[in-house]
Amino acid sequence: MHFRLRLLLTFSLLVATPLLAMGEQASKTGQGNGLPHLERRGKATQLLVDEKPFLILGGELHNSSSSSVAYMKPVWPRLSAMHMNTVLVPVAWETIEPQEGKFDFTVVDGLLQDARANNLKIVILWFGAWKNTYSSYTPAWVKTNIARFPRVQTSDGRDTERLSPFSTVVRDADAQAFAKLMHHLREADGEQHTVLMVQVENEVGVIPQSRDHSAVANAAFAADVPQALMAYLEKHLTALNPELRATWEAAGAKSKGTWQEVFGKAPLTDDLFMAWQYATYIEHVTAAGKAEYPLPMYANAALIRPNYEPGQYNSGGPLPHSMDIWRAGAPSLDFLSPDIYFNEFVDWADRYTRRDNPLFIPEAQGGVTGAANVLYVVGHDAAIGFSAFGVDDQGNTPLDLVGVTTPGERIDNAALGSMYLTLSRLQEEVVRGQETGGLSAAVLEGDAQRAGRVAVGAYTANVVRAGGGAASGSRVGVLFIPISADEFLVVGCGDAGVTFSADTPGPPIVGIESIDEEFFENGAWTPRRRLNGDENSQGQALRLHATDLADGRIYRVSLYRY
Ligand code: DGJ
Repeated sequence: MHFRLRLLLTFSLLVATPLLAMGEQASKTGQGNGLPHLERRGKATQLLVDEKPFLILGGELHNSSSSSVAYMKPVWPRLSAMHMNTVLVPVAWETIEPQEGKFDFTVVDGLLQDARANNLKIVILWFGAWKNTYSSYTPAWVKTNIARFPRVQTSDGRDTERLSPFSTVVRDADAQAFAKLMHHLREADGEQHTVLMVQVENEVGVIPQSRDHSAVANAAFAADVPQALMAYLEKHLTALNPELRATWEAAGAKSKGTWQEVFGKAPLTDDLFMAWQYATYIEHVTAAGKAEYPLPMYANAALIRPNYEPGQYNSGGPLPHSMDIWRAGAPSLDFLSPDIYFNEFVDWADRYTRRDNPLFIPEAQGGVTGAANVLYVVGHDAAIGFSAFGVDDQGNTPLDLVGVTTPGERIDNAALGSMYLTLSRLQEEVVRGQETGGLSAAVLEGDAQRAGRVAVGAYTANVVRAGGGAASGSRVGVLFIPISADEFLVVGCGDAGVTFSADTPGPPIVGIESIDEEFFENGAWTPRRRLNGDENSQGQALRLHATDLADGRIYRVSLYRY
């Protein structure tokens, strides 16, 4: 089989057209041989596994969990019981290449075997040169040899604990280890397809200063912006991220010059400079991995807190304002992903959703918040998947996420598990709705009623908080799945009321013809009560309950206009 697979892979790589955009390029690499790959289908770019669309209902492990197969043994069945279909699993450089040139895949193989035994898929997170800006997951032979593997330096010439993305020695060693990992995965998993995708590095960028000040970095900063980047920006001018375009135009829209001449003398220029460097470095690593085994690959971003400057946030990471620089520098990446821990989830998710950038959320809050948010990204942004962070503790270990959880707070992922169960039962309808572009979703964030008014076919749904949710300000999410022009399945998270109106030409008034609650019984959605009277505000509204999730209840709503 290995020979056959190798032939297929070689052929796949040969037919991949280098000029295709992110996402679309990958659609070629794994097509026709069952390998996980991205493919444009109708209005959405989807992840196909064994030639079928696959919606990732996932969770990411805590950083250290997957260093031990034994530690993970009891965890896998718990994750499976939470109705996840995919687990995001770190694989560290120090684990697979503890001694230079000597590779050990015992842990990787153990993880693969136990994931399979629990019917779970995996997304591998390559903790190579960087993990959250630092280089703490590199092997000792890299960490301790600073002369050979140089570090990012501060402006006063001090080394930091971050490898420099300007070092080709670092880059080549990282790329070689990554290529070995991908080679091994092809041999160990090229037929079973347990591993769906790979994240290359983790939340790269530089802090606490906005750029590397090593001699080689200073020289690159004083040199002209590479011609390849200038050509890309000029060619894609009208589609550029507005902030990037405004920055470039404010500095005179030059087509040649140093970084400060082209983008201005501001900290943001340091960020754009580092973005190009991280992107071109990661391109090298990604291409080396894909040459061995062309799974979809992506890079993830730590987002920006309000009013933070480059260096306070990860300067150079794949952020919305630098997405075009990343696309130009790292064409082998299939997409860029946001790790969204902020309450302003909707804005960040939408900013990463572009025709050339399918949305995947690798890290986010779990619990009820995650259960509401997954409805939004699946329905509004046609996401290929969602994953909550730190799912392996099941609320038993306090999860301290600065600014998100209070110290010691435990996140109960029962609601997320129930949501995953419901969505897995609706997977076919959801992926079909993504293809036709017919899905819609609403989210109520914090106290704001944002994204609460949403088009549902030819109707408009108005979602407002009801009951306990109003007092607690907890998140509400609603997904609408069209069955026909006037009939929808509705999945909710939280206490809410939904009224319907019409903004499109035609009869002005919308009536509720019927609302039925449905439960999944014997493999099919089956109606129970016809909801009317007090249960639907005398025919005026659909009422969603926080308990619907745990009960496994969805609604079938028929509307009419007069
Ligand atoms: C973001 C990182 O990408 C994760 O690995 C983890 O460190 C979380 N922050 C929170 O702890």
